[in-house]
Amino acid sequence: INGIAADIKLWQNSTLNKIVQRGELQVCMEPGYVPFEMTDKKGNIIGYDVDMARQMSKDMGVKLKLVPTAWDGIIAALITEKCDIIMSGMTITQQRNMTVNFSDPYIVVGQTVMMRKDLEGKIKSAADLDKPEYTIVTKLGVTGEIATKKFFKKAKIVTFETEVDAAAEVLNGKAEAMVYDQPYNAIFMSDKGKDKLIHLDTPLTYEPLGFAVRKGDPDFINWLNNFLRQMKEDKVIGFSDELYQKWLVD
Ligand code: ARG
Repeated sequence: INGIAADIKLWQNSTLNKIVQRGELQVCMEPGYVPFEMTDKKGNIIGYDVDMARQMSKDMGVKLKLVPTAWDGIIAALITEKCDIIMSGMTITQQRNMTVNFSDPYIVVGQTVMMRKDLEGKIKSAADLDKPEYTIVTKLGVTGEIATKKFFKKAKIVTFETEVDAAAEVLNGKAEAMVYDQPYNAIFMSDKGKDKLIHLDTPLTYEPLGFAVRKGDPDFINWLNNFLRQMKEDKVIGFSDELYQKWLVD
């Protein structure tokens, strides 16, 4: 197999080529991670990642299909080709990067702590919460769970299937605090947390979010990274300004 034949083979097997042949970009995401992907009152999936997926499919000249996927099976869904890409606020971690490839980051977030307001004054930092009498909640299988285990050695840790169930536990007083991605916590605070919760908003971790794709596909990664740079610089949908303002600033 000579050089040109190898190049053709690479392109034929590229996810980008499959998307073009199919005429549809298929995106795995788990709605619930506000404001990146969430379900509106009519049942439509909306959010920052959805806006980017839509722009992506437009630039590719294909239709868009969102594939709602539970978080614990989302990497398996990508690997078994249930979708072309994961656009779901996924943190680029070294462990995940062993099984999937990532685009360049499109935003950087970190884990923060949302705690019950009645602890104000008594608790000034995450470290103050690390006591056996306190319960810290987070979501199963996310970087929040990893951070919770790392920063809370003495407190009781309880994990939930969804972020909204974890947050409810703090709201109804069954847990003292929740550890989760800063944008989610910031929006939850202004939405439901007023007068009830306090946001310790100094990030505990550094978390670049990227799009995950299958390994062995340089064509797709090349397209994605060039797309991301263009989005950042262009004012067409104003990735860094309007899109950020629309979903992340309230
Ligand atoms: N950034 C975190 C992680 O990668 C949480 C992402 C959760 N995303 C979602 N769509 N539920 O683990």
